[in-house]
Amino acid sequence: MRPRLLLRTATIAVAGLLVAAGSAFAKDRSECDRIYKPSVGQPGKDVVWVPTPDELVQRMLAMAKVTPKDIVYDLGAGDGKIAIAAGKLGATAVGIEYNPDMVKLAQCYVEAEGVAGKVKIIHGDIFKEDFSRATVVTMYLLPELNLKLRPTILNMRPGTRVTSHQFTMGDWEADETAEIDYRTAYLWIVPAKIEGQWNFRDATGQQFTVALTQKYQKISGDVTVGGRKQPLVGATLRGDEIRFAFNDDKGVTRTLTGTVRGNEINGALRAAGGGDVKVSGTRR
Ligand SMILES: C[S@@+](CC[C@H](N)C(=O)[O-])C[C@H]1O[C@@H](n2cnc3c(N)ncnc32)[C@H](O)[C@@H]1O
Repeated sequence: MRPRLLLRTATIAVAGLLVAAGSAFAKDRSECDRIYKPSVGQPGKDVVWVPTPDELVQRMLAMAKVTPKDIVYDLGAGDGKIAIAAGKLGATAVGIEYNPDMVKLAQCYVEAEGVAGKVKIIHGDIFKEDFSRATVVTMYLLPELNLKLRPTILNMRPGTRVTSHQFTMGDWEADETAEIDYRTAYLWIVPAKIEGQWNFRDATGQQFTVALTQKYQKISGDVTVGGRKQPLVGATLRGDEIRFAFNDDKGVTRTLTGTVRGNEINGALRAAGGGDVKVSGTRR
């Protein structure tokens, strides 16, 4: 064989080998299905495996307003479908799953769906793994498991969104619910901890004190301004965003909107019919 022909033949052979090797590694879902065949209702450590229907997965992620900036953790990931769907929205996603066979299957689907750069399925116990960096938590567990996770969730960063398929969080009422085909999705937003006595001062030098009480995201309280105490009006808390109104010592209605950061609240105080002045508060 002439050298040039020999070179061309060798090149074609190497290319053929590379294609063959590539296809041996490329995965599609049918290949994953040969790894392990789970059955709906099969036992899991704390709860059986039942997948959330696709439409509800999309609804849960939409309620949580998942964007590429989010880190989504699915607690009890099953075949990884919620984590994969979050990854397809551009989010970083982690699924925690206890059953090692389910983990392998979910990892294979992650590759087959082309989201391996965004999505990880880890083998672990949701009661032992640290998911505190999540900005969104999703779950389809059981009422008692949600309750067991509730203290951990309530200690997460204020504003963290939590969605659950079907099951509630005891007396922590959902911020939003949605229903699809007789199934319910719930959304909670982790509230900042705002209970206590606060001293406020606005940019004009006006001072007032506020006593706040809290049950989850529901807040109430009263304000003392100019030596007169009165209940707050329309007090709301969504994540770390607080809002309430009161009448100042001149009888002008003022609305405070602020952001809670630990023992500080910073924001604006708007007078009815007037502009905003800066206001800040410190917890005593
Ligand atoms: C009802 S399925 C939900 C699967 C998936 N999140 C979905 O909505 O499609 C619950 C999953 O949690 C897993 N699981 C049960 N107890 C667990 C635990 N302690 N830690 C991690 N995973 C667990 C089960 O193996 C099962 O795959």
